[in-house]
Amino acid sequence: MVGLCKWHDFNSKSWSGKLPVVIMVQLVGGIVLSLLSAASATVSVPTDELTWPHLPKYFHLPPLREQAAIQDAWTKERRDSIPALLQKYNVSGWLISQREYAEDTLFWSLKPATAFAARRRTTELFLAVPDAKNNKTHHSWITNTPETDLWPELKCIIQDEKLHSIAINQNPDVAFASGMHAGELRAMSILGKETWKAFVPVPPMLPIELVGTMVEGKALWYRKLMSTAWAMISEGFSERVIAPGESTTTDVEWWLREKIQQMNYTTWFHPSVSIFRGGESPFAKIVNGEAEDDNTIKYGNLLHVDFGVTALGMNTDTQHMAYVLYPGQTEDDIPRGFLDGLKKANRMQDIVKDSMEIGVGGDEILRRCREQMAAEGIEGKVYSHPIGDWGHSAGTVIGMTNLQDGVPVVGQFPLLPNTFYSVELFAEHFVPEKNATFVFPLEEDVWYDEGYGWSWVYQRQERFHVIKSPKKSVLQTQYDL
Ligand SMILES: *[C@@H]1O[C@H](CO)[C@@H](O)[C@H](O)[C@H]1NC(C)=O
Ligand SMILES: *[C@@H]1O[C@H](CO)[C@@H](O)[C@H](O)[C@H]1NC(C)=O
Ligand SMILES: *[C@@H]1O[C@H](CO)[C@@H](O)[C@H](O)[C@H]1NC(C)=O
Ligand SMILES: *[C@@H]1O[C@H](CO)[C@@H](O)[C@H](O)[C@H]1NC(C)=O
Repeated sequence: MVGLCKWHDFNSKSWSGKLPVVIMVQLVGGIVLSLLSAASATVSVPTDELTWPHLPKYFHLPPLREQAAIQDAWTKERRDSIPALLQKYNVSGWLISQREYAEDTLFWSLKPATAFAARRRTTELFLAVPDAKNNKTHHSWITNTPETDLWPELKCIIQDEKLHSIAINQNPDVAFASGMHAGELRAMSILGKETWKAFVPVPPMLPIELVGTMVEGKALWYRKLMSTAWAMISEGFSERVIAPGESTTTDVEWWLREKIQQMNYTTWFHPSVSIFRGGESPFAKIVNGEAEDDNTIKYGNLLHVDFGVTALGMNTDTQHMAYVLYPGQTEDDIPRGFLDGLKKANRMQDIVKDSMEIGVGGDEILRRCREQMAAEGIEGKVYSHPIGDWGHSAGTVIGMTNLQDGVPVVGQFPLLPNTFYSVELFAEHFVPEKNATFVFPLEEDVWYDEGYGWSWVYQRQERFHVIKSPKKSVLQTQYDL
């Protein structure tokens, strides 16, 4: 048997071995310091770009080649963390196997920036400790003849190294722990009963921690992505884009899509712009895709946007609100009831952020939030989620719109440090000026900073975006006469 075990040294050929190493400055202290160090080590950022907070600003992405180098350095850090994670979750190995177009969910968090799909059958075996033979914690194969290489070699490693608990991704509840395709699982039956004894269902926290953990270097770029998302919302929710009486919410949505494209970003969901008239469900449009009867934006409208951008393998998620001023009005003319509703939603954001204790489950955090809301007489809903590699990324979930008493399975997992979260919620508030109860949904991303706790990645909305009525030009005025 030993003769078969001439393991492919695939590492050095094309997979992780090729990832360029970017020198990262190791720093004690908080993320703010590390941002500066990462900036000097990896990307050249003019120092004025690091002065926060400031008015939202568009950040251009570096050339694609540079983006790939940045992302590959982050991926290398993540991949290097795997053996320690396997030890932490007490498994001896982790098998991630897939074919082109039938990729494991984790493929996208582990691939080189230049890979757009798995090739042939792409299989990786990670080990908790270096194997005795090659002193390696990683083996990988790309093959279309697995009967002659992959399967026998895999069997050998499992036997030689006496691996007794190799995690495979077949969890029934957690997407990040269930990425092994059904066909792949069947193909592996060729390994035989003896070998199969070595396989165990992956502990769900293993992929959750792998995907949810954001390496330090990501923070600076994540803040730039957030600033850019804010800049897009600020411009979209302004008289530069909205002409009251003419523009529709659909126009603003497509303007945002085009803007994303112009900036060479992408997104992970179509932007959603709504007019709130009081008494509605904030999810009618977002969840059910319900079209509004009349979506022309008018003076005095309260507007809402749900918007995210994607770049450098990271995603953002933001919900903001805007008010359409009547001609000649200023911010001071926004109805008091709207201002109070926004303030209430801000208070809820504080409650959620302050309740996010590391190690505590999402359901317990949700319970604490709702208890505090009840104590302060606040009506609303909390549905906050991890964000990063995915818009709805890996980690415990703090409520869902339809689940305010706990979320099955994922609500039980402990909240992890060094993750990004999207604090998503709405407050309900009776607006006397409109004689109706309105919802005030806000969403803002936070990150965890060792020693400081959670803070807003960019800022949070405390004032409405305002659409001012356009000043009429001399020509227009003449035409009116
Ligand atoms: C680790 O896993 C092995 C079986 O694979 C088990 O016998 C042992 O009790 C586990 N240790 C801990 C600390 O969970
Ligand atoms: C095993 O590899 C590590 C680095 O990956 C190295 O520090 C160590 O000396 C190697 N051990 C042996 C026995 O070659
Ligand atoms: C978008 O990419 C194109 C092609 O690389 C480039 O010419 C352009 O300047 C980029 N635009 C922005 C806003 O970064
Ligand atoms: C406010 O709305 C309620 C029902 O929604 C209605 O009964 C009441 O007459 C309204 N008040 C005013 C001043 O319009």
